[in-house]
Amino acid sequence: MRNDTAATPQAIFRKDYVAPGYWVDTVEMGFDLDLDATHVATRLTMRRNPDSAEKDLVLFGAELKTLQLRLNGVNLKKSAYTIDGETMRIPNAPDEVVLEIETLIKPSKNTSLSGLYASNGNFITQCEAEGFRKITWFPDRPDVMAKYTVVLRADKKKFPVLLGNGNLIEQGDLGDGRHFAKWEDPFKKPSYLFALVAGSLVCQEEQYKLGSGREVLLQVWVEKGNLDKTQHAMDSLKNSIRWDEERFGLELDLDRFMIVATSDFNMGAMENKGLNIFNTKYVLANPSIATDVDYAGIESVVGHEYFHNWTGNRVTCRDWFQLSLKEGLTVFRDQEFSADLVGTSTGRAVKRIEDVRVLRQVQFSEDAGPMAHPVRPDSFVEINNFYTVTIYEKGSEVVRMYYTLLGHEGFRKGMDLYFARHDGQAVECDDFRAAMSDANGRDLTQFERWYSQAGTPRVDVQTHYDAAAQTFEITLSQSCPATPGQTEKLPFHIPVAMGLLNSAGQDMPLHCEGYEAQAGVNSLVLELTAASQTFRFTQVTEQPVASLLRNFSAPVVLNISYSDEELGLLLAHDSDPFNRWEAGQRLATRRLVRLTQAVQAGEPLELDSMFIEALRATLNNDTLDPAFRELVLTLPSEAMIAEEFEVVDPQAIHTARQFARAQISQHLRADLLSAYEQHLTPGKFSPDAVSMAKRSLKNLALSYLLEWVDESTFELAKTQFYDAENMTDRLAALAGISNFRGQPQQQKVAAKALQHFYKEFKKEALVIDKWFMLQATAHTTDVAKVRELMTHKAFTLGNPNRARSLTFNFCNANPAQFHATDGSGYALWAELVIALNKINPQVAARLARSLDRWKKYPLHLQEKMRAALEKVAATKKLSKDVAEVVTKALA
Ligand code: ARG
Ligand code: ZN
Repeated sequence: MRNDTAATPQAIFRKDYVAPGYWVDTVEMGFDLDLDATHVATRLTMRRNPDSAEKDLVLFGAELKTLQLRLNGVNLKKSAYTIDGETMRIPNAPDEVVLEIETLIKPSKNTSLSGLYASNGNFITQCEAEGFRKITWFPDRPDVMAKYTVVLRADKKKFPVLLGNGNLIEQGDLGDGRHFAKWEDPFKKPSYLFALVAGSLVCQEEQYKLGSGREVLLQVWVEKGNLDKTQHAMDSLKNSIRWDEERFGLELDLDRFMIVATSDFNMGAMENKGLNIFNTKYVLANPSIATDVDYAGIESVVGHEYFHNWTGNRVTCRDWFQLSLKEGLTVFRDQEFSADLVGTSTGRAVKRIEDVRVLRQVQFSEDAGPMAHPVRPDSFVEINNFYTVTIYEKGSEVVRMYYTLLGHEGFRKGMDLYFARHDGQAVECDDFRAAMSDANGRDLTQFERWYSQAGTPRVDVQTHYDAAAQTFEITLSQSCPATPGQTEKLPFHIPVAMGLLNSAGQDMPLHCEGYEAQAGVNSLVLELTAASQTFRFTQVTEQPVASLLRNFSAPVVLNISYSDEELGLLLAHDSDPFNRWEAGQRLATRRLVRLTQAVQAGEPLELDSMFIEALRATLNNDTLDPAFRELVLTLPSEAMIAEEFEVVDPQAIHTARQFARAQISQHLRADLLSAYEQHLTPGKFSPDAVSMAKRSLKNLALSYLLEWVDESTFELAKTQFYDAENMTDRLAALAGISNFRGQPQQQKVAAKALQHFYKEFKKEALVIDKWFMLQATAHTTDVAKVRELMTHKAFTLGNPNRARSLTFNFCNANPAQFHATDGSGYALWAELVIALNKINPQVAARLARSLDRWKKYPLHLQEKMRAALEKVAATKKLSKDVAEVVTKALA
């Protein structure tokens, strides 16, 4: 028998949650691994859940060929169960059930990369969220936790390595050229954490001593030829283990912890118990193939997956609506891990700024579009569409607000109580909030709205200084725009960290009515809970400049009208580095908006000297961390500028921003050159924070220098490209050269450099991804050029990393070209979404989201975007992943 996948997309609702009718105590599985036909025998011991309203025994299965179904030793007759879509119901089952299932699956045909699939001839699994049902019939929902024992059998030559969750308890030969391995996971787990890997792999391994003194085996498994790229992942893993012990008192609970890298992966990585599976992008690194950004990404993703062992695996989610319970918390933990590893306060601020930049650029945009959803959604059609920046990054901001409100100690108390109460359980976001509240004796009832209400709140600021009374009043008013299904919003509980600066830029002592003054503490967390609230400060001896939302203490838009002079003061002096950077961004945004309007009106373009001088002062300020200077000198992206407009004009924004960059290049020429020369990092490459900071400022200086066309800087870039001893410098130079608007002979040099790069790295898939990415985002790359690149022999839509490198980057990160006025970009987008839909619905649905914000564009573009969306919507056999995205966009 075969069951088909659901035909019409139907939403499921959080309010409809019903506890499972049956629990599963043990799962025993035997796999006869064969790429074309894998046989899976499963034995489940189940018992009725007396507390459930569900009386049937319910199982889920997808794309399975079912060979056998036996209940308590008896073959199940067809009349004994029903199948509707992915759901099998067995009515009238006894209270205690032993279910034996045999299924046949086809890994080599599985291009969705969900369930059991083949990658370069190896077996890989991905079961989150609902991939386990593509392996066997099972109550595949996160609140059903069971103990697993798994036997893997396969050809010994082709699949010498057989890995599973937990501990290896037996292995041996089966004769006939086959062998087996038996794995037992001592911990109960939901099915989404199941994993197996089988194939020809090699590993770097190490014995590691935990805080308690217990020895564990750490392994990083990769394909042959990649063992020279595993050291950084191994170091990151050890740092993660130590950090979780020190910061949260959480120790590794297994004797063995494995990381496996695969080049065919839909997302970043997966926290399967004891057997984390990673996209190669987040494992493989050495100086010649990986950039500083890659090194940082590996550290944070290795940390993220490791931290899930406690926040996700030991305590998991009751249902998928609670996804942010584990994801938001684990992102917060990985962000803190990376910040703590750098250690310095500006290092922490740099990390914070980078994280907030992503939040604002991607999550704020999601929150303002047709896919906007609360951190804890009320409904979804396809759960895979809800692994979003809202669940992850906004979810992390929500966790960070507890940290801001409760303090370091208070937050730790809440975490301790959360584990004490819920270890081994599948729980809800509300349980986390209750632990934070109860551990600290704090009423966090209103805080719940951060989970239930979508949209980015806006906080409007009014201030009033009374010189005679020496009082300063700050009135904060909050509102939140309507989002799909939610028109009215109630006030949020918003922590607003702040300080007051005097005219010399120093922090003033704070005496705020209703808040205890603390000697020497010049920063305060105001709690905004009403729609509008006034905070009154006394003993304010001069007119202050308010520094609000320090360290970005809440995921809101702060609307405050500063003068250029006030912003200049904040940029030069604020003791909060985040707000220093923020002041610079406000100065820049203001100018970029004006320049865009001037482009549209055909007026002359001008950039004022006040702004240029503020940038010069920052660039030359040697007391500032170079990484921080790089962030201040980087103009808001075109996507961020677009958010400032009701109606977006991508080409005008691009022209305006390029004009500003050229002006900066011209006026800061000498300063940029000297910044370049002062931040060279000769000698052996090291991905430490200090060297990375130098490279980032040096390469920013280079990219600015190249905006003002002259021979000598072009030569500088060319030399850097050919002489580079690391990928960070090489790629930065190549990007600069290929975006250079020079003479034909320089364009020839650029084409040659691109060719040279390809030849040198054609065996390194991750570097070829960069090669495509760089061209996808080049200013001169238009739709025709993308189509040409799609015919390159190294291009394929079948590999997610490769597909993303060219097509996603073009559609999402090259707005002036993608939004070509003839609509050719949208036509390309539709073709790609339709092609990907057949191969891999999850990847297709991600690309489908590139048109989310179509209603923000001028009418002539809107019409073309709507046509492209309708074309996709009308496609036959559309997956529910893509159907959900385009249906919501068109609604
Ligand atoms: N839990 C994984 C992580 O956060 C993400 C896996 C999501 N995969 C998916 N197909 N939806 O690291
Ligand atoms: Zn995660």
